[in-house]
Amino acid sequence: MMDIWQTLLTRQEAITDRPILALFEDQMRADDFAVTTQHMRFDYAKTNIDRDTRADLLHLAEASGVAAKRDALFRGDKINDTEGRAVLHTALRNIDGGPVLVEGTDVMPEVRVTLSRMRKFARKIRTGKITDVVNIGIGGSDLGPAMAVAALAPYHDGPRCHFVSNVDGAHIADTLRGLDARSTLVIVASKTFTTIETMTNARTARAWMKDHGGDPKTQFAALSTAEDKTADFGIDPEQVFGFEDWVGGRYSVWGPIGLSLMIAIGPDGFDAFLRGAQTMDQHFCAADPLDNMPMMLALVGIWHNQFCGYATRAVLPYDQRMALLPAYLQQLEMESNGKSVMMDGSESPRHTGPVVWGAAGTNGQHAFYQLIHQGTRVIPCEFMVAANGHEADLTHHHHLLMANCLAQSEALMQGRSLAQARKLMEAKGLTGDELERQARHRVFAGNRPSCTLVYERLDPFTLGQIIALYEHRVFVEGVILGINSYDQWGVELGKELATSLQPVIEGTQDAEHKDGSTAALVDYLIRHRD
Ligand code: F6P
Repeated sequence: MMDIWQTLLTRQEAITDRPILALFEDQMRADDFAVTTQHMRFDYAKTNIDRDTRADLLHLAEASGVAAKRDALFRGDKINDTEGRAVLHTALRNIDGGPVLVEGTDVMPEVRVTLSRMRKFARKIRTGKITDVVNIGIGGSDLGPAMAVAALAPYHDGPRCHFVSNVDGAHIADTLRGLDARSTLVIVASKTFTTIETMTNARTARAWMKDHGGDPKTQFAALSTAEDKTADFGIDPEQVFGFEDWVGGRYSVWGPIGLSLMIAIGPDGFDAFLRGAQTMDQHFCAADPLDNMPMMLALVGIWHNQFCGYATRAVLPYDQRMALLPAYLQQLEMESNGKSVMMDGSESPRHTGPVVWGAAGTNGQHAFYQLIHQGTRVIPCEFMVAANGHEADLTHHHHLLMANCLAQSEALMQGRSLAQARKLMEAKGLTGDELERQARHRVFAGNRPSCTLVYERLDPFTLGQIIALYEHRVFVEGVILGINSYDQWGVELGKELATSLQPVIEGTQDAEHKDGSTAALVDYLIRHRD
């Protein structure tokens, strides 16, 4: 196993300066370094991965036991072994598949019952007096539905959906302002039903509804694994949609946490979303590694992060409605693979998950692409764009969008040499030292890697596929890194300290037990508050 890591490191050192463009001497490269399914094409030809490197990466995946672990994931084994849980978000979209056993019990009947209750409830809300839905949740109980509702805006034919996550009172105040409490449904989305931000916002929303003529008894719903806590909060059990602990927060959009999406686009649209994900699951399980989209996306990620040492990756959807995708993927990837300890408790001998960031194109081009093109750090980019927009009368916009997306990956790979830059300056009439100085500023190193995902149209089915693609990518990377992608102990300490700081901020406890910096900041905030 060590050998294959070493082989790949040696390979990387040998090809650092090789231009990616040179790899296109191989006439077959564009097709051979892409994975095409019936619905999408994933192109990784614009990376420095050659055939030998790819063979070694595939060998690494094999030696890491990806196939066996994938089977264990789908089988419902407790692969999240620091929490003793199965990881079965795939069961939520297994809508016409077979049984899925957890400790000998098929979970599918329960999944189907909940899904049909959600459908019934969504239909009632869509045809009733509700004009606005406010989903209160945070992290996985917010980002998934918020991202998907924004991405699928053309398919909305239900009430307006709003999302409140931040405990900053500004978020809920700005959201509720202008809403009619008598025609608003509040959905409290929290797997644990203990998250302080969500519970604080939920109580504020309940008070607002009471004060403004609404009825929290009929206008509150809850999505949670903790049905006892939803009852304590006073939510009618008929409007509670439960799920099991084998659904991780950041993988939960496929079940009850997706209720706001179902209300927005309708049960049939939500079904299409699930079917898209199920199609990707089937592809992931059946396709050979080389033709397996999640596998190859993961291996490109591992190559760039672990072997080339690129610490971040940018996700750049050329789709304004996917503007929340980078934030969604930040949680999915960074909460899953931001670990330092291996499954066996030993320190990871290498860096684990990369920093994931990004924004919708073309906006990013006018903000941070400067650094991607000419900065000193290499940032692998992951572009995505649809062949069709939804605005039939604005196809010229979409053509520009596509041209920009493809132009960026081309520019990153090609670059502009000093000789080319000199020519440009000559054409402008510059000479001598000034020509040289100006030309240097206009050089693009090029040879910067990217991959591109293209698809027909961002509809519910396609979005389901894209999200499932990234989920499986995270899984494969986690297996290769030997870490548990499904726990998140790293979020605990901050929560504990926030709890202990609350009485200090409220002034009922002094800050003596705090470090000097924290105590001084508390002191400043207390002295300066109104
Ligand atoms: O603090 C992190 C986290 O636990 C995420 O993993 C989760 O998605 C989020 O908080 C919200 O948790 P809950 O759904 O239990 O409110």
